[in-house]
Amino acid sequence: MKTNKITVVGGGNTGITTAFLLMLKNLGDVVVIDLPQFTNTVKGKALDILEAAPLLGASRRIIGTGDYGDTAGSDLVIITAGLPRKPGMTRNDLIKVNAEVIKSVVTEAVKHSPDAVILVLTNPVEIITHLALKYSGLPRLRVLGQAGVLDGARFRAFVAEELNVKAADVTTLVFGVHGDDMLPLTRISAVNSVPLPSLVSEARLEEITRRTKGGGAEIVNLLGTGSAYFAPAAALTAMASSILLRENRLFSAVVNLEGEFGYGDVALNVPAILGGGGIEKIIDLALTPAEKAVIDKSVAEIKSLLAPYA
Ligand code: LAC
Repeated sequence: MKTNKITVVGGGNTGITTAFLLMLKNLGDVVVIDLPQFTNTVKGKALDILEAAPLLGASRRIIGTGDYGDTAGSDLVIITAGLPRKPGMTRNDLIKVNAEVIKSVVTEAVKHSPDAVILVLTNPVEIITHLALKYSGLPRLRVLGQAGVLDGARFRAFVAEELNVKAADVTTLVFGVHGDDMLPLTRISAVNSVPLPSLVSEARLEEITRRTKGGGAEIVNLLGTGSAYFAPAAALTAMASSILLRENRLFSAVVNLEGEFGYGDVALNVPAILGGGGIEKIIDLALTPAEKAVIDKSVAEIKSLLAPYA
């Protein structure tokens, strides 16, 4: 079988941590690409990971580069490039700069890897995933974004802490936007099938939900410079694994909708099965009227932010 090839665009904290995890899990040969002025830095970081490989049992290759030619024939392109937030900024404050970034990255990446699946992390992720589809010209099921896996992981970590149970046994699904209006579906969250509302008081569940919604900002404020990267990288790696190893795991993924849930021409976190073709199946989960109202509001906001790029 051909070895998978994975391009990671952006050699910052998230990009390089993702590359490290991809290597650790032997998911494929990894190319990390950054802007020409950072070529030596990204080459150095990739070489450092290569030299760790013998100690980690990693058997794939990794290089850093500034040349898209080196990314040719990738099966998966993970885009972490773009500006992160500073304290006090919302993810939407990043649109202008990151829309420019995604245009050039996607154009170059697809030129060299026309058969790739594109996985976007760059914020605001719903907007950038929508633009990535538009600029790539790829089929929509091959362009997706990451947010719900990270938000879900935060929720799971906080529940595990609350109940003193293993975090991996906590399941949840975060629907909608990666922002204040995200919708952790606590009514279907569980610890090994036992519904969360029967394990945690309503007040504590509300507090955990509130902390999850502000999880990104909590870390931005603590770091003072830049945003979270270990959990975002772990989320990207889980999605990459499901795609590259055809694991068909059900995740909350940022999907470009064409009528599902009654929405079109907009990207949102919805439940989807990820496999070799990218998004294998979008899961039609019934929302309550109150949940639908939250999503309606988010969709209207995203559409108005996207208007200048139509
Ligand atoms: C966060 C950023 C990556 O939530 O959006 O940490």
